[in-house]
Amino acid sequence: MPPRNDAALEFLLTRRSRPAKTLTAPGPSRAELLPILTAAARSPDHGKLEPWRFIVLEQGAMARLADLAEKRGRELGKSDEDLVKGRSQFDQGILAVAVIEVRRQSDKIPALEQTYSTGAVCLALLNAALAAGWGANWLTGWPSHDPAFCAEGLGLAEHERVAGLIHIATETSAPPDRPRPDLDAITSWVSE
Ligand SMILES: Cc1cc2nc3c(=O)[nH]c(=O)nc-3n(C[C@H](O)[C@H](O)[C@H](O)COP(=O)(O)O)c2cc1C
Repeated sequence: MPPRNDAALEFLLTRRSRPAKTLTAPGPSRAELLPILTAAARSPDHGKLEPWRFIVLEQGAMARLADLAEKRGRELGKSDEDLVKGRSQFDQGILAVAVIEVRRQSDKIPALEQTYSTGAVCLALLNAALAAGWGANWLTGWPSHDPAFCAEGLGLAEHERVAGLIHIATETSAPPDRPRPDLDAITSWVSE
């Protein structure tokens, strides 16, 4: 049996994100980020395909990505509101880890399972950052789903896509918890 870990259980029962727009400098250093990335890469992965990789977006990259989001938004005919939203997570960003799904050719492992594994990596990264005492938030937004933005801004290939931009920095305030799911409504127990 694995040893009982009450601190880990307490963390999982109370964890919550910190909205990216409430985060401030500093973000983690490269040395501080390494154990967080290491924890994220220790995620379930059917067939050991490693269908994911990380791109660490440091402060210097944010202005370039904000400008590119605005340029792409104009090309796509986005509304003023979407243009502002597309820019803002980069304009306000301190540090973010882009978790990239890297689709592997496999006769055995369905593509969907590679997507699930990538989502697991995102949550593990978010949780490791929170457990390390940082504010953290999993965002996407329309630029993350725009292949041209991802190719030009992040250097993604055709078989790659953004699963999440995990913003990590210093929290300024802890938000009130949001309503959590009604367990009875989402759980059924099968005993025979
Ligand atoms: C795949 C994915 C993408 C998300 N993208 C956004 C986003 O672009 N903007 C946003 O405000 N919240 C987004 N969210 C929700 C935030 O992460 C939100 O803060 C989160 O649901 C809070 O949950 P927690 O407190 O349980 O950690 C996204 C969540 C997921 C799973």
